[in-house]
Amino acid sequence: MIAIASDHAGFALKEKIKKHLEELKFEVCDFGTENEESCDYPVFAKKACEAVVSGQCDRAILVCGTGIGMSMAANKIKGIRAAVCTETFAAKYTRLHNDANVLCMGARVIGEGVAIEITDTFITTEFEGGKHKRRIDMFE
Ligand code: RB5
Repeated sequence: MIAIASDHAGFALKEKIKKHLEELKFEVCDFGTENEESCDYPVFAKKACEAVVSGQCDRAILVCGTGIGMSMAANKIKGIRAAVCTETFAAKYTRLHNDANVLCMGARVIGEGVAIEITDTFITTEFEGGKHKRRIDMFE
C-alpha cells in the first residue's frame, strides 16, 4: 500500500501520480488534500507519514510546490526517511543507500513525465542493506 498526499500546490500532480500507480495495480491510500484551496502541507505530511510508521502503508509520496516543505515536515517524524527528488538518479540511490520510505516532489519544479519516472524508480528499487544499514542505524 502506498500513501500519497499533497497540499494545494501539489494537488494536480498528486492526482496524476495516484492514477498512474492505480493503473499499475498498486493500492493507493490518499490522505488529501482534495482540491486546490490553500492548505497547510505539514498536516498532510503527518497523515501520510503516520501511515508509514504504523505499517499501514509501505511508502509515501508527498507533493507540494517545491517538495522541500513536505520533506522537512516528514523528516521530523521518527522512523521517516524522506528525500526530495528532482531526477531519477537521486530516487534510485535514496532507495539503494538511504532506504528512503518517503518520496517528496515539487509540482512547481518538475513536470508530470519526470515525476512519474521518479515515482516508478522509487517504488521499484530495493534497499541494498549492508554498510548502508549501519549508517542509517547511526542516525535513527
Ligand atoms: C505553497 O505555496 C508552498 O509554500 C508549498 O507548496 C511548498 O512548496 C512548501 O515547501
